[in-house]
Amino acid sequence: MGFALQFVKSQLFTSLPYPKYDFSGQTIIITGSNTGLGLEAARHIVRLGASKVILAVRTIFKGEAAARDIIASTNAKGNVIEVWSLVLSDFDSIKLFGERVQALTRLDALIQHAGILTKHFELVQGNESHITINVISATLVGLLVLPKLQETSRVYGVKTHLSFVGSDLQYIAKYKEGETSGSILEELAKKEDVNMSDRYSVSKLLLLYTVRELAVRAPLFKESKVVISKVTPGACQSGLFRDDMGWLEAMIQSIMVKLIARTTEVGSRTLVHSVKPDLEDSAHGAFLMDCRVASNGSRVDSAKGQSEQKRWIEGLFPKLESIAPGCTSVLA
Ligand SMILES: NC(=O)c1ccc[n+]([C@@H]2O[C@H](COP(=O)([O-])OP(=O)(O)OC[C@H]3O[C@@H](n4cnc5c(N)ncnc54)[C@H](OP(=O)(O)O)[C@@H]3O)[C@@H](O)[C@H]2O)c1
Repeated sequence: MGFALQFVKSQLFTSLPYPKYDFSGQTIIITGSNTGLGLEAARHIVRLGASKVILAVRTIFKGEAAARDIIASTNAKGNVIEVWSLVLSDFDSIKLFGERVQALTRLDALIQHAGILTKHFELVQGNESHITINVISATLVGLLVLPKLQETSRVYGVKTHLSFVGSDLQYIAKYKEGETSGSILEELAKKEDVNMSDRYSVSKLLLLYTVRELAVRAPLFKESKVVISKVTPGACQSGLFRDDMGWLEAMIQSIMVKLIARTTEVGSRTLVHSVKPDLEDSAHGAFLMDCRVASNGSRVDSAKGQSEQKRWIEGLFPKLESIAPGCTSVLA
């Protein structure tokens, strides 16, 4: 099925199950959960009985407002929610967050939801902003929490989950930077000739390559199962498209959103599904769409995709080691 047809089928003709899972006893972290899909996912998870839900946000007062909002709408006890600082554009903040996670008694799931979409080129920590925030930082967060997820699985005899929020726009990424012979990270950091309308999709394609690699290098064992997946919520109404727009662009977008986009509550069901306690093993290393395992797309499964994945990882892992030495040693 072509992308356009699949998109319309998913957005207009697919109903997503209202979450009814049991998260009692669990500790779950959602990044970027002060707003949008992350906030609605957190609300579901609190409603479904989690013992501790950590809102990992870049602005604490926004996280505290979100916590009050969730408590008011679910009647949960105030101490169920904690608000932690996590700034994905600051590697020191990520490392501090990782240390804090190690001190938790247990961690059953982390939903790496925080992300950006912008048409403006900017370098953040030496790399283009989508690449830093949506991929490098997202992966670093994942690697730093993986040991705690593995430990929780082993000690409590449960499946634990590491879920990265992606996008089906990965299917249409052009990714011309992958055709060059030099360093991919350096190529993606060049402002000249950059195609910013492709960059968000590229970041989500590279995130899928990363998730596939992590899943291979952190396999499921009988005694410890951390299911690592990438999930798309579909096109949703949210603050993601917050770039300045001309009035015509803004009007067209608002009409499109009304016609086709899911509410953040409906979209968030996919995030909650990706960490449900009995998520099937086949989700490990997979792309989840509409609350089930979906195709990676012919590119990713092809020889070209495998070679793109290899080259990407050859650049990413040394970069991660330069930021947080030893962080990849949790992988085989
Ligand atoms: N909405 C859609 O149609 C759609 C479709 C597919 C995938 N997604 C994915 O869903 C995720 C979020 O989307 P959303 O629609 O919920 O957007 P959103 O409402 O804009 O939420 C984005 C979240 O990310 C946080 N964030 C941004 N930059 C950050 C940084 N440097 N450090 C820490 N947190 C940061 C934001 O914090 P602040 O509030 O402080 O800015 C906010 O909490 C993204 O990964 C996106 O790719 C969305």
